[in-house]
Amino acid sequence: MKLTDCWHQLATHYQHLKSQHMRDWFEQDPQRDQRFRLQAADLSLNYAHHRITTQTLEYLIQLAHAAALPNKIDHLFKGEPVNFTEQRPALHTALRRPTNQPLYYQGQDIMPAIADLHHRMATYCTRLRHQQWLGFNGQPITDIVHLGIGGSYLGPAMAYHALQAEAKCAVRIHFIANVDGHHLTSTLAPLDPATTLVIISSKSFTTSDTLLNAQTVLNWLGRSHIANQVIAITANPAGANALGIATDHILPIWDWVGGRYSLWSAIGLPLAISIGMSKFQQLLAGAHAMDQHFHSAAFANNMPVILGLLGIWYINFFHTQTHAVIPYAQRLEWLPNYLQQLEMESNGKQMQAMGQTTPYSTAPVIWGSVGVNGQHAFHQLLHQGAHLIPVDFIIAEQCTSPLTEHHRQLKANCISQIKALMLGNDPSILAQQLQQQGYDLAQATQLAQHQWLPGNKPSSLITLPQLTPTTLGSLIALYEHKVFVQSVIWQINCFDQYGVELGKQLTRQLLDDESLFASIGLSID
Ligand code: F6P
Repeated sequence: MKLTDCWHQLATHYQHLKSQHMRDWFEQDPQRDQRFRLQAADLSLNYAHHRITTQTLEYLIQLAHAAALPNKIDHLFKGEPVNFTEQRPALHTALRRPTNQPLYYQGQDIMPAIADLHHRMATYCTRLRHQQWLGFNGQPITDIVHLGIGGSYLGPAMAYHALQAEAKCAVRIHFIANVDGHHLTSTLAPLDPATTLVIISSKSFTTSDTLLNAQTVLNWLGRSHIANQVIAITANPAGANALGIATDHILPIWDWVGGRYSLWSAIGLPLAISIGMSKFQQLLAGAHAMDQHFHSAAFANNMPVILGLLGIWYINFFHTQTHAVIPYAQRLEWLPNYLQQLEMESNGKQMQAMGQTTPYSTAPVIWGSVGVNGQHAFHQLLHQGAHLIPVDFIIAEQCTSPLTEHHRQLKANCISQIKALMLGNDPSILAQQLQQQGYDLAQATQLAQHQWLPGNKPSSLITLPQLTPTTLGSLIALYEHKVFVQSVIWQINCFDQYGVELGKQLTRQLLDDESLFASIGLSID
């Protein structure tokens, strides 16, 4: 079936389905919660609370095939130039592939270089975790200041915060991304340069925010101590050398790894130091398990494909403009921020492969924060607002905290939000209840309208058995592949980011010529 015919078929189906209520589908099909359920790499997805029928899924899967998704997935894993504007592969999947399984790029097996990187990372981890790395006063390193931004920050910082319970590491890690001096000064204030290691993470080593932070931190450290107490992680070793960083203290990132897909690379070093290399390998293994699922499962049972298609259904047919990610896990509080870059920098585009603007919407605004907190902040809008906002609820099944009653209440809240969003309530019943409280008919009827929740609000429930390095790796890979699925169907490139260049260029010009944009009324001095 042709792509355009698939879009038309779904548009017709949407007109037929849009006024139906999920509440009725659950009543007609008591097994719905079981029927719309998937397992992959230890994760479980319940997608019953969506505005879909099995017919919808059939049409969406036809759309995926018409967009040649199976071929594109093959190309992704094989290292074809899926990043078609920069003519590069996107081989973040190779970074978590068993290193004894060869993968050839430009005629060379890239796995030995990855194995060597893992060995170097493991050596750093051991030296730091066992107090064998001594600072310039002869004392062991106690703190790491990590400089990086975007993909050189969000992944390791998110995972570091998520897996702190796994970290049996005396070395404290401090992430600095923003160029705002307040963050840098407040972070450095309590630290001792003599026992501080600096990691400068920048794939390009041209990001001005990171470079200015680096200059300030190296001055604070003392330039004479760079050789022993500074590591660079970059695809631009010359840039690191220019700062006086020794080549044997530079870990490589390869061009075929996109910045927002680089947690699995040397960019993950601060995480590996914190949790240990063996647990970092578990993170990689979890992501690899999701890779294998994505690469082999039939689309009807393929978790990244189903999540991607659900997004297409809401964005391109219900015309939703935002998507909420609400982890019911305090340790995943950084996940929405991380996913903002992964999704919005990947698919926040309108230009299709052949240089024409997409006729339909693409990436939604990704937002969210942890549950239950959101219930006391923005869930009012989710339940009674004018916007339809699909939600991803994410939770760990098993309680790993000693406070079992707290976990029980956390899960009860999560489930109840999903059901309340779907069910809504019935104003006629509300009016009867209000009359029983003494309201007259007119008052009861009017107030019931204000208390009415329409329901029919869609959500996914992604359940991890526990939050571990393995399941976190699978979860992140799930979203990476969901983003890829959507980019293929929208025929856009999820691996470039030309949209951020003009801002950088104007900043450089303004710093050179402060009269530029003087009319705005804010002097930069
Ligand atoms: O400006 C956006 C961006 O290029 C992101 O894609 C990237 O993750 C971030 O800046 C940092 O880039 P670098 O790792 O080269 O410093």
